[in-house]
Amino acid sequence: MLISVPKERADRETRVGLVPESVSKLVKQGSSVSVERDAGLAAGFTTAQYEKAGATIAADFASTVAGADVVCKVQPVTAAEAALVANGAALISYWMPFGAPDALAALQARKVRLLALERVPRITRAQSMDVLSSQATISGYKAVLLGAGALPKLLPMLSTAAGTLAPAKVFVIGAGVAGLQAIATARRLGGLVSGFDVRPAAAEQIKSLGATLMPLDLSAVAAEGEGGYAKAQTAEQQVDTQAAITKHVADMDLVITTAAIPGKKAPVLITDGAIKAMRPGSVIVDLAAETGGNAEGTKAGESVVVHGVTLIGPINLPATAAFHASQMFSRNILTFLNHAIKENVLTLDEADEITGPMLVK
Ligand code: NAI
Repeated sequence: MLISVPKERADRETRVGLVPESVSKLVKQGSSVSVERDAGLAAGFTTAQYEKAGATIAADFASTVAGADVVCKVQPVTAAEAALVANGAALISYWMPFGAPDALAALQARKVRLLALERVPRITRAQSMDVLSSQATISGYKAVLLGAGALPKLLPMLSTAAGTLAPAKVFVIGAGVAGLQAIATARRLGGLVSGFDVRPAAAEQIKSLGATLMPLDLSAVAAEGEGGYAKAQTAEQQVDTQAAITKHVADMDLVITTAAIPGKKAPVLITDGAIKAMRPGSVIVDLAAETGGNAEGTKAGESVVVHGVTLIGPINLPATAAFHASQMFSRNILTFLNHAIKENVLTLDEADEITGPMLVK
């Protein structure tokens, strides 16, 4: 079986679908792997490392995917790339919301089976294949570093010959994978950290990381849906939550927002009025920028100053730590391939509880 790893060409994408470590494992298991020259370079993996891992090196996209049974990518293919993928091959990559309809049509015309990585079901068995979780870990960590870099204060309390510096107050909204990593990172840097999430189970996780909870009666605003995931709050609950957040952020230096509802626009939790009440020089890093933002006025891909508060709306943070992001991404794909490869053949069973939901039709 031939597995192919093309170079990413999308704007700001520095990750790679498979790293040499995973290539080596696949080769030892009996697969052949074709890697495009310099595919891993932006993430810190050299072509020599891929060769050592047993891959053959191809000069361009077309020769990398020629005859491949499986193509492993990070970003969706373009329509032009789709037209080069072998008939009947499988393609594993992110798909929604960026996958273009003309690329999908080109893949379907060639009977390419498309597996969308963001559709890995959120069940315990599939956790090690879940790129949303692995990449959210990087986003949460990087969000704190970005915010700390923009803050006119230091995070830790310092006792110096020039006197004592008070620690910065950090508030994290949304305690899923990214939020919990943001809390842990801000604590490691010495910040005084508080958190909030609408899922009651998250309260214990926030506290277990040494953070405090934002003062608010959670029983009145809790919004948990099926399978333990957040659901949208009612309009009344959202108003109560916004009011509590407005009061809390007025005394914060750095706010990291990660609140998301699966498949929906991000809830607005920090209103313009709340930003106005914050201290000038404070910073908000809005990780929900790409789905509309948790703060009013967030601009995806930009850093803007609103009422003296710096509002950062980062895009594709995992690509800014491409080595570790690729390492985790690659391990996620490898685990999926090991799940789906049976006797050296990729077996895509629609009835399978992991493969079925990932197949795009
Ligand atoms: P996410 O990225 O979908 O959302 C981020 C967080 O925002 C969630 O914790 C959510 O509760 C919170 N949120 C939504 N609306 C909010 C509001 N109005 N105010 C404050 N917070 C709000 O979350 P993620 O990272 O997917 O995690 C959600 C849960 O799923 C966690 O318990 C996580 O451990 C679990 N999970 C399980 C997986 C598996 O079993 N394979 C994989 C990934 C996550």
